[in-house]
This record gives sequence, structure tokens and C-alpha cells, in this order.
Amino acid sequence: MLLRKRPPGDLATTTGRQRACKVGRAARPRDALALLAMKLIIGIVRPEKANDVLEALYRAEVRGVSMSRVQGHGGELDRVETYRGTTVKMELAEKVRFEIAVSDPFVEPTIEALRRGAHTGEVGDGKIFVLPLERAVRIRTGDADEEAVTPLGG
Ligand SMILES: Nc1ncnc2c1ncn2[C@@H]1O[C@H](COP(=O)(O)OP(=O)(O)OP(=O)(O)O)[C@@H](O)[C@H]1O
Ligand SMILES: [Mg+2]
Repeated sequence: MLLRKRPPGDLATTTGRQRACKVGRAARPRDALALLAMKLIIGIVRPEKANDVLEALYRAEVRGVSMSRVQGHGGELDRVETYRGTTVKMELAEKVRFEIAVSDPFVEPTIEALRRGAHTGEVGDGKIFVLPLERAVRIRTGDADEEAVTPLGG
């Protein structure tokens, strides 16, 4: 039998995860599992509650966060009269949008933190959307997926 010496980093000597990265997306066997392992959580909240949300996220040990200002509408229709009859207008309200990519164990704590920080009990408190997240990459290190959404110390 012919034994060939494999160079370091050869596909046969790498782990499943490393191999998946090397051979490209089409052949990534982890894609389906990654969808279960990570989520992108979008929280749209009142601007005046944004700091409370940040504090609640910090207490829940959720560290990676993006925030942006958005204009939104919750779906309620305000009817106004015009001289041609009844028309519908949509008033947009200022909101803050959080985007938080987390590994599975942080999904419920993140949702709870968003609720705790943003809740007033009045209409317009906001919404939380949870999306499957296929990939994440830490640019500096190349860390992928759950490692990429787990904060490094220091
Ligand atoms: N279906 C949706 N898709 C995208 N964004 C939404 C949706 N529903 C609400 N939003 C966003 O969330 C913001 C706050 O929505 P809001 O809290 O008014 O939702 P709601 O369903 O009307 O609940 P509430 O009855 O408490 O007002 C909106 O201004 C909009 O930015
Ligand atoms: Mg509303």
C-alpha cells in the first residue's frame, strides 16, 4: 500500500468545520446545522428606551450589538378625510433598530432583555424578529459562526 505524506492543512487532516470553509459554500455540510445554531435578532424599540435595552443586554451578557435609527409603522391605519372622500395615511414614527447575532443559548436571554428594556405597556413598544443566521465571520481572526458571535476577552 502506498502511504502518501499529507502536507499540513491538507483537507484530509482538517476538521469538518475547517474543511467546509476550504471547499466553499456549495459543499458546506454545516449550513443546515448553522441555521439552528445562530440567530439574528432584530428589535425595533422606542428611541427613549434604547439605553434601557442596552443595559438589559449588557446584564444578559450579550455584547455584540448594532443600532440604527429607523422610521416605522406598526400597521395601524389612520383614516383622514379629503375632499374626494376617505383616504388613508400612514404616519411614520422614529424607532431604534437593534441587530444582534447570537448563538443559540443567547436567543431567549436576548429576547427577554429586549422586552425588559423596551416595555412600557403602551401601544408602539415595538417588535422583535428572530431570523435564522447562516454564517458569521470575525474579520480580524477569520473565526467563523458561533465563535464569531461569541465575544473574545480583552
Ligand atoms: N410587521 C412589521 N414589519 C416590520 N416592522 C414592523 C412590523 N410591525 C412593527 N414594525 C416596526 O416596529 C415599530 C413599532 O411597532 P408597534 O410597536 O407599533 O407594533 P404593533 O404591532 O402596532 O404593536 P402595538 O399594538 O404595541 O403598537 C414600527 O414603527 C415598525 O418600525
Ligand atoms: Mg402600534
